[in-house]
Amino acid sequence: MAHIWPIGGGKGGSGKSFITSSLGRLSAGLGRRTLVIDLDLGAANLHTLVGVPYPSKSFSDFLYKKVARLDDAIEETPFENLFLISGAQDHFDIANLPYEQKVKILRAITKLDYDAILLDLGAGTSFNTLDFFLASQNGIFITTPEPTSIENVYRLIRSVYFRRIRYCFRISQFKALEEKAIERFGEGAFNRPECIMSVVAQDYPESHRELRNDFDAFRFRLMVNQLRKRDNTVLGLHICRVIEKHIGLRVEFTGNVSYDDHVHDAVCQRVSFLDRYPYTKTAGELRAASRQIFQPTGRQLMLQCV
Ligand SMILES: Nc1ncnc2c1ncn2[C@@H]1O[C@H](COP(=O)(O)OP(=O)(O)O)[C@@H](O)[C@H]1O
Ligand SMILES: [Mg+2]
Repeated sequence: MAHIWPIGGGKGGSGKSFITSSLGRLSAGLGRRTLVIDLDLGAANLHTLVGVPYPSKSFSDFLYKKVARLDDAIEETPFENLFLISGAQDHFDIANLPYEQKVKILRAITKLDYDAILLDLGAGTSFNTLDFFLASQNGIFITTPEPTSIENVYRLIRSVYFRRIRYCFRISQFKALEEKAIERFGEGAFNRPECIMSVVAQDYPESHRELRNDFDAFRFRLMVNQLRKRDNTVLGLHICRVIEKHIGLRVEFTGNVSYDDHVHDAVCQRVSFLDRYPYTKTAGELRAASRQIFQPTGRQLMLQCV
């Protein structure tokens, strides 16, 4: 079964698509059949970053039943072993995907026969983005060093965590949990996953154990992209510590990726940054991150909502 890496971040422009295309390129370069999927359907542009300026197929071919199987929406890129499902011709926002369609997509993705599948997710915390994150234990969160981006990625991670807890309970049960959390921790507690978890621990010890096991199995990662010279190089580590302290969720810091104007040049020239500028610090950092991310772990894909 393929390993799936959902890649997202709270904020547009943080470099999700750039990182997805770079990790895809590096994974394919190792001889692994790699598929990158553009799930930022409202603002799809991954195709441009993997050398396919005019995709002939797209995700909507599958959603609108123009093709029967998701395989038929896949196209080759100029890079050996690297394949793409583009979101280019999709005019709707993925946030609007009905539940049944989302389940259909997730099922179809898990059936694809690739060594690595990378999902380029849209910004924000829509339920669909959260569910795509929870389709795998290997989520990668991208932020820049700017406080606005950090704030958004923190909110996204909290939301993913919250969504996972939510899956465990029926609507009425969850409502009761929220009320108890408010009773115990005051107004606003219904919106704080750590308070809900504390109530779960007391009222549903079995579900609490299940959730804890699940959270322990997650291998979430954080990358800080577009780090400039004067930025704090250990910022990513601090963010991971804060998340662990406040939410109790372990997120691994996968390293910094420096800001480099050559990225802009490569995008404008429509060439692969890694191929055109392989000796830059940024390219070296991307390679280091990919070694860490793609090291074999034996972990298997997990599907929560299918
Ligand atoms: N490390 C970096 N150094 C310089 N520019 C970068 C870097 N990462 C991304 N960019 C630039 O930031 C912009 C947004 O990147 P993109 O990957 O499209 O963001 P997102 O998918 O998160 O919206 C692009 O113009 C890209 O060239
Ligand atoms: Mg993008």
